Order: sequence, then C-alpha cells, then structure tokens
Amino acid sequence: MTDSVTVPTTEPAKLMRPHAEQEYALELEALAAQDTRPRPPSWNLSPWAVVTYLLGGTLDDGTVISPKYVGPRRLMEVAVATLATDRALLLLGVPGTAKTWVSEHLSAAISGASTLLVQGTSGTPEEAIRYGWNYARLLSEGPTAGALVPSPVMTAMETGKIARVEELTRIPADVQDALITILSEKTLPVPELGIEVQAAKGFNLIATANDRDRGVNDLSSALRRRFNTVVLPLPASEEDEVAIVARRVEQLGAALELPTTPAAAEEIRRVVTVFRELRSGTTTDGRTKLKSPSGTLSTAEAISVVTNGLALSAHFGDGVLRASDVAAGILGSVIKDPVADKVVWNEYLEAVVRERGEWSDFYRACREVTG
Ligand SMILES: Nc1ncnc2c1ncn2[C@@H]1O[C@H](COP(=O)(O)OP(=O)(O)O)[C@@H](O)[C@H]1O
Ligand SMILES: [Mg+2]
Repeated sequence: MTDSVTVPTTEPAKLMRPHAEQEYALELEALAAQDTRPRPPSWNLSPWAVVTYLLGGTLDDGTVISPKYVGPRRLMEVAVATLATDRALLLLGVPGTAKTWVSEHLSAAISGASTLLVQGTSGTPEEAIRYGWNYARLLSEGPTAGALVPSPVMTAMETGKIARVEELTRIPADVQDALITILSEKTLPVPELGIEVQAAKGFNLIATANDRDRGVNDLSSALRRRFNTVVLPLPASEEDEVAIVARRVEQLGAALELPTTPAAAEEIRRVVTVFRELRSGTTTDGRTKLKSPSGTLSTAEAISVVTNGLALSAHFGDGVLRASDVAAGILGSVIKDPVADKVVWNEYLEAVVRERGEWSDFYRACREVTG
C-alpha cells in the first residue's frame, strides 16, 4: 500500500503592481508577431505598432489591443517618431496628464523594459545619471569594471534601450547637465577606468516634467536643444475623461481585488463633472462663473477619489458606490488651502450643487463632510 503524498503547493506572492511589459506581455507578443513594418535598430516593434499598443486597436488575427492613452493620436506619433531619431523626448504637462504612464508604456513597447528609471528629485546625485561605485570592492580592488555600478542610463546605453528620467526639472541644474554629453555625443566617459561607454543603436531617453515646476530649475538651453517636447493636454471632453477614469478605476479595482461594484458610472460622471467645472471655472452649461481652487484637480486625482470610494462602499457600505462614498475624497482634492479653497468649495456647493435637483443626495453628502 502506498500513501499518497501531497506536495504542499505554495502560490507565489502576487505582485501589487506588475510593470507594463509584464501586465501587457500578451498584447506585446501579439503585436510583435504580426508586425511586418520596419523596426528601428533594436526596437521590439515598429513605430506603427508602438502607437497601436498605446492607443489600442484590433489586429488582423482579431487580437484586441487595449487603449492605454486616451488623447490625440498625433501626439503619440510625434513622441514615437522622436524616439526613432537622435533627439530625446520630453513629456511636459500639468500633474496627472499621464506623462509617467505614457513614458512607462513607450519604453515597455519599444525596449520591453520600463525599469531603466531615474527618479528626479532635488537630491538626485550625478551617480544616478552616470555611474557609482560599490565601495567595498572599490576599496579592495581599486577602480575596476567590477566595482563600477552603472546607472539606469548607462545600462540603457550599453543595451540600446530606452532610459527614463522622471521629473527632470526637479534635478539640480549641474546634475541635469550630466545628460548633455550623453545626449549629444551618445557617450559616457569613465575617466577612472580610462574607458567610455558608447551608446548602442536603439538607445534614447524619455524625460517627464511638470510645467508647474518650471522655473524651479529651468532646463538649460544646451539641454533643451537635445529634446523634442510633447505637451500632454488635459482630457479634451468630459466623455474622454469619464472613459479614462472608468477604465483605470476598473483596472485598479481588479488589481486590488475589490469586489466589483455595479453602476458606478453615474458617480464617476459626477466626480468628473465637479472636477472639470471647478478646474475650468464655469459650469458645464456655461451659465455660472466659478472660482477655481488652488489644487490641480487632475484626472489622476479623480481616479483615486473613485477608487477610494469603491473601497469604502465595498467594505463599509452596501456595495454600491454612493455619493457619500466619494464626497470626502472630493473634498480632500478640492480643499488644499484650508481657508481660500473652502470658500470656493462652499460657493460651488450652494450656487451649483444645491440647485441641481438630481444631485440632492450628493449635496447632502457634501454638506455632511464639509461641516
Ligand atoms: N489621457 C489619458 N489617457 C489615459 N490615462 C490617463 C490620461 N490622463 C490621465 N490618465 C491616468 O492618470 C493617471 C496618472 O497619470 P500620471 O502618468 O501619473 O500623471 P503625470 O505623470 O502626468 O503626473 C494614470 O493612471 C493614467 O492612467
Ligand atoms: Mg509623473
């Protein structure tokens, strides 16, 4: 008689947030398999296929590519075409216009790697852009190739991939300037070793910057000349913005394994309407002028207001997204300055929200949290 042996199966921990190239691996594979157009050196896809990956579409064999970016096709064409030249790409725009998102998806589609990333802050050192050293090895071996720690940019140069620099304008000007030689000469000298790393074909760089930061550390003109700038706009219409929020909320909800909430569409539309009206300073019908609050009220914030609302309704409510689930989140986004923004918000509540018959639940929920 043999005992049956049960092998314990441990499921691997699930990732909280897979990289774009992991999450959309099947789409990228399908695109690569069917893409017959010419590909720039070391690109995984042709520029046409990269734009299709970003904007979505249906391939000849019926594979559906989901849209990642919602906005003018031409902007994405300019961005992708730039990356096939010797100029780098600067994505500029107000916060929450998908600069980081587009940068991640572009590098995933072109290089299959979105992780060669430098996060720009006022404390970003030159080593983050050039290279650093493993100090234990540096002390025992002196400066050797083995003791050198390449930056993401150096790795991208060696392998002909896309490097990303987030929030370029927050980096101190002298550190930013380390990029000039890299982008103009396509080389990174390592004087300690008496060598240089020359960029392999396919190398390029995507930087993002918030135009609200402009002036903090203005890009030097020498550096600016190395970039083509693409300005990402706020969503043009309410329809677009509702579509973006609804899609992202659905993806985030699935990733967080929140129970699905039916009929969230109405509440999403209301959040977007409030954001757009306050942002633009007029009501949708154009009749009432409004003051705008100090915050950006970006699409990204609308996404997080709705996602938080879904978590509230799933765990503490009746499982349906209600006005009371989003009211506190909206308040938090609108009132950044406790005095001035509160005045703006109260005026909006009384002059606009209160007057809308079908918004009475929302008015009550907002009044309750506004105090
Ligand atoms: N036009 C758009 N198309 C698709 N998603 C968008 C768009 N605008 C904003 N988003 C969403 O907003 C979120 C935040 O964008 P992010 O890239 O972090 O903004 P930024 O870097 O410009 O501040 C992302 O989850 C993205 O999906
Ligand atoms: Mg960003």
